[in-house]
Amino acid sequence: MDFLAALAEKAHLVNGALDRYLPGENTYPQLIHRAMRYSVFSGGKRLRPALTLAAAEAVKGDSNAVLPAACAIELIHTYSLVHDDLPAMDNSDLRRGRATTHRVFGEGIAVLVGDALLTLGFDLLSQAGSEFSIPPAKVLQVVQEVAAACGTMGLIGGQVIDLTLLPKEADEKTLDYIHRTKTGALFRACVRTGAILGGADEDKLRKLTTFAEHFGLAFQIIDDILDVEGSPEKTGKTVGSDARNAKTTYVSLFGVDESRVRAHKCLDSAITALVDFGSEADFLRHAAYFCKTRKF
Ligand code: IPE
Ligand code: IPE
Ligand code: MG
Ligand code: MG
Ligand code: MG
Repeated sequence: MDFLAALAEKAHLVNGALDRYLPGENTYPQLIHRAMRYSVFSGGKRLRPALTLAAAEAVKGDSNAVLPAACAIELIHTYSLVHDDLPAMDNSDLRRGRATTHRVFGEGIAVLVGDALLTLGFDLLSQAGSEFSIPPAKVLQVVQEVAAACGTMGLIGGQVIDLTLLPKEADEKTLDYIHRTKTGALFRACVRTGAILGGADEDKLRKLTTFAEHFGLAFQIIDDILDVEGSPEKTGKTVGSDARNAKTTYVSLFGVDESRVRAHKCLDSAITALVDFGSEADFLRHAAYFCKTRKF
């Protein structure tokens, strides 16, 4: 499989749908809608929504039916980036290859963009079944799963420890907590959302969850490595931001080489979790291969 071509195909679908779901730039109050669109349509990989679509395919479900939910997760992910970049958090100037939302629109609007994307994401997720006769109980289940992934036991919890941990307090257990929550939780939720809405049975859902947990941890370990040795042209982000902010990362704790070994081990475990699936799970497998060598 040409993974990047397959990802581009899914990203195209997601981008078209996001364009329909986001209010137009001329909708009053124009400023917030312009800023939301600036943040969303800035060349993200669309990996999470692609994984949602792919998880539905892996259980032989209808990936079209999970497109709204996939878009909801991308909106929520984009909110997390806009807030993560704020001066009060990572103070980043560059995101997805251009100036961060707060650098262009100011901090107040960037806070509101994040709030608006999160709210729109849940609005969209709550309607995820209406067009495709997905049972309301399943829609409610994914709303709860995504909320849990975003909340204080998930993404927010991870961001709190990421923000407040002193380097001298850093240990492997805490770092693992940060990565599994700030990043892993949403990957887990996006895969489970696709699987649940796609009609997965308990056994398949469990295996896909295991895949997603390993994948999510590895994804953030590689992100830590790219912060040290990545190229801004490829990542679209400033290099060295973690060191500047004295963050505890896999690289700061274990060094680049050991971090890569650990990420590859996680990705091998992710692939192993799919052993009972056929070619319908190829996109997921290739996502893990891609992650091993990704430069963006
Ligand atoms: C960046 O995620 C934030 C992390 C959780 C590491 P991505 O690397 O998926 O960012 P985009 O969406 O492609 O910009
Ligand atoms: C981001 O972690 C996690 C979330 C946005 C929830 P990072 O701070 O490492 O992400 P980047 O490197 O800025 O994309
Ligand atoms: Mg951060
Ligand atoms: Mg950051
Ligand atoms: Mg990072």
